[in-house]
Amino acid sequence: MAITLAPSLLAADFTKLAEEVSAVEKAGAEYLHLDVMDGHLVPNISFGVPVIQSLRSASNMVFDAHLMISEPHKYVEAFAKAGSDIITIHVESDSNIGETLGHIKSLGKKAGLALNPDAALERAIPYFNQIDMLLIMSVYAGFGGQKYIMDVNEKISEARRLLGPEFDIQVDGGVYLHNLSVPVSAGANVIVAGSAIFGSDNPAQAVLDFKAATL
Ligand code: DX5
Ligand code: ZN
Repeated sequence: MAITLAPSLLAADFTKLAEEVSAVEKAGAEYLHLDVMDGHLVPNISFGVPVIQSLRSASNMVFDAHLMISEPHKYVEAFAKAGSDIITIHVESDSNIGETLGHIKSLGKKAGLALNPDAALERAIPYFNQIDMLLIMSVYAGFGGQKYIMDVNEKISEARRLLGPEFDIQVDGGVYLHNLSVPVSAGANVIVAGSAIFGSDNPAQAVLDFKAATL
């Protein structure tokens, strides 16, 4: 099964972002996963609009903004203008989820909805007709380098059953080459990997290895 690979910038060397992004783009990664954290919805702060805006001129990849922020409705427009192609919000965020997803779509962007490991799939079902991608977190949002939580496999399989074979189901957290087959066999087709790609000695080679993996 062909996967869409989304290297997470969070694990990149921030002294040379354009170079890092260009390396994974040339190697064939489709999405650039952009982890935005506000220190409120999640206990960590990363980067925001200016970084995404600057990188936009350096890359043609699909910019996949994962907003781990409170009140995302206040910011989706800024992230759309900065050049995000997909904007994913968390079901746990203090926003009117349906309205915010509608807002993302009205800005001409793809809308994603993310579920932390302890959020039941049922919480996302009411929004299935409004989203282009479902993000099932395989770690608790907030930090790179955590261990894949095996319990989420069942949620991925159930989501695949409900959403059909073509729908984009993204998995995020703790995915490496050695366990890539776990989320993919469960039914995920969009794979985020931070430590395994930008955290490796050779991100371009890591992309090639992920793309070549027999699944
Ligand atoms: C976690 C982020 C992830 C993170 C993944 O909150 O959403 O995208 O960068 O990192 P790894 O692949 O290291 O688990
Ligand atoms: Zn993420």
